[in-house]
Amino acid sequence: MITFWTGRRPTIWICDAWAASELLDKRAAIYASRPRMVVFSELGAGQSNMVNMYYGDRWRLHRKLTHMGVGLQQVRNYRGFQNDESKVVALDLLHEPEEYVKHFERYATSVVSIIGFGRRVAASTDPIITEVIAVMQRAAELNVPGKTFPMLMESFPFLARFPNWMAPWKHGLGQGQGRGRPFFYALAEEAATNKNSGQCYAKKLFDEAPKHSLSKMEISSLAGNLFGAGSDTSSSTLVTFVLACCAFPNALTKAREELDRIVGPHRSPTFQDEADLPYVKALMKEVLRWRSVAIIGGQPHAPIKDDHYKVLKQTTIAAPEAGNVWAIHHHEREFPDPDRFNPDRWIKGGPDSRPFPSEKGYMTFGWGRRVCSGQGLAEQGTFITVARLLWGFEIEKALDEQGNEVDVDIFDFTNGLNMRPNPFKCRITPRSPEIRATIDKEGQQALQDLSEYDGETKYRMSTYYATEKLR
Ligand code: HEM
Repeated sequence: MITFWTGRRPTIWICDAWAASELLDKRAAIYASRPRMVVFSELGAGQSNMVNMYYGDRWRLHRKLTHMGVGLQQVRNYRGFQNDESKVVALDLLHEPEEYVKHFERYATSVVSIIGFGRRVAASTDPIITEVIAVMQRAAELNVPGKTFPMLMESFPFLARFPNWMAPWKHGLGQGQGRGRPFFYALAEEAATNKNSGQCYAKKLFDEAPKHSLSKMEISSLAGNLFGAGSDTSSSTLVTFVLACCAFPNALTKAREELDRIVGPHRSPTFQDEADLPYVKALMKEVLRWRSVAIIGGQPHAPIKDDHYKVLKQTTIAAPEAGNVWAIHHHEREFPDPDRFNPDRWIKGGPDSRPFPSEKGYMTFGWGRRVCSGQGLAEQGTFITVARLLWGFEIEKALDEQGNEVDVDIFDFTNGLNMRPNPFKCRITPRSPEIRATIDKEGQQALQDLSEYDGETKYRMSTYYATEKLR
């Protein structure tokens, strides 16, 4: 555990799986709150967004409402369209393999858009991707302790009180208390009043709102979190998977053998195959560990009362705790040779497996009562897409003009709260003519089945604030 001071504010960084599990999981009742966050919370979405909320009844309510949208029971019902959207990714990769990042972003955004708003995102040029995700990525970029100048406001909160026109260090933050919020309210209201669309989370939210006196800002945050928390994270994980395939081709062999044996070329893998694909599952877990997207476990936790921890018997822990997921997932004791992508570590009882304090074996989705609300959705989506891409495609390093392989850099990642590989070229080609035909056939069918979610929103984030005022 390391204490890191930003001016006069300490943060305790937990870099060890056992300590993280002891404090954040086993003593979850204590470490369930969030610290004061000037940049991300007060200048952003504030206390009406559960991601930032202090522990208490309102947070509990938001958590319950979020579970109505993406709780474990709910997400099983989404498998049909999630699987279809993943088939569309495979189809898109046949035609535009070099645009793989865009296809993953479209897929992840479309899945949460169907859940939240009953409308799919059919093209990667949809403004929901080009505008909203860009704002979310920018927020994640700014929210790294000590990294950029805006973070100085964490140590000197008075700097946040200056009006934006005379405070370039605010980078425009704090206008209208979080640019995204009223916009997502408008999107949710549009979806909830659309008579042509079926049940969606926005409708449920509007049903629940009067019972709990939900404000517009709260509705906006609950609906917007699906995009904010669920699209960049899920798509970045898939980009990481592609990088791992290019860098460690030998690690794919056993998964491919398993897929060829269980599935064959005339259909792609389904959720029903999951139990018969333990090695593919192991490979997916290794993707989640090797380069976990939420590198410092998302937002820090904060204790709601003083606590003592064994090594520091005399020390009171009253500072926010950040789970250093990178350090935890790169500890030689749990994950020997940690930068090597090695799915064998996940084979229980095998020579490469090591004890870990939690059943899952990774801490990619955080801890205790604040654990990621979308974990079930993210895990099932990552599984089905990783399985399908391994089954369907050779994913290899790009070739230069002389036909030599171009190396990839496994450390070349973005530098924000969420990370993904910086752009790199690769070759993605169907593994056989039969598989190509299957991908094509299944992809076309999926597009037909998904057409019930076709639709347009009249709102654009870029023009919304010029034309609409929060009523
Ligand atoms: C690979 C994909 C994802 C990863 C790696 C991820 C990771 C995380 C992490 C590390 C946290 C912080 C947990 C903590 O404080 O202990 C978190 C929180 C959260 N996530 Fe995710 N997430 C993913 C996808 C999703 C999806 C798909 C959704 C919803 C559709 C979602 C919704 C949320 C929400 C609402 C919170 C805040 C929970 C709270 O503060 O109580 N996430 N996520």
